[in-house]
Amino acid sequence: MALRTIRIAGDPVLTKVCREVKEVTPRIRELIQDMYETMYHGNGVGLAAPQVGILKRIAVIDVSMEEDNPQPITLINPRVVLMEGEQTGDEGCLSLPGKSGKVTRPMHVVVEAFDENMEPIRIEGEALLARALCHEIDHLDGHMYMEKVEGEIHDVNYDEEDEDEE
Ligand code: NI
Repeated sequence: MALRTIRIAGDPVLTKVCREVKEVTPRIRELIQDMYETMYHGNGVGLAAPQVGILKRIAVIDVSMEEDNPQPITLINPRVVLMEGEQTGDEGCLSLPGKSGKVTRPMHVVVEAFDENMEPIRIEGEALLARALCHEIDHLDGHMYMEKVEGEIHDVNYDEEDEDEE
């Protein structure tokens, strides 16, 4: 495993629509492992492949925030099939370090995707997981949370320094 370089907002790779994955090759398995390592290293709760410069529909999420009980979710070709409710709260992104802004997202989503063995999976997400799922799937279509921010994007202040970034 290896840390990958996280692309920062302004990099054109973050505005591209990613391609579907047809087959999980050894190279893609390695990419997924590297994405987890890079996400955990950055204290993020999610990371999408374009954030490490790869234009494929792959994202990893772990909202558990407990090192001793990780709950990794690997998403290949994910799509949102149901959205319900609404939540408004601060959101951050590893591609815009140290910043945060208020975004409204669905409170509940259902996502269909494939896992690293290309087996179909269905993920139900509430609250933070719903937010992370929407945020990462947006990345795969070249969108970032700043496009949806209500009000100002602000610096994450000292009290919030351990806030999650996606
Ligand atoms: Ni992000």
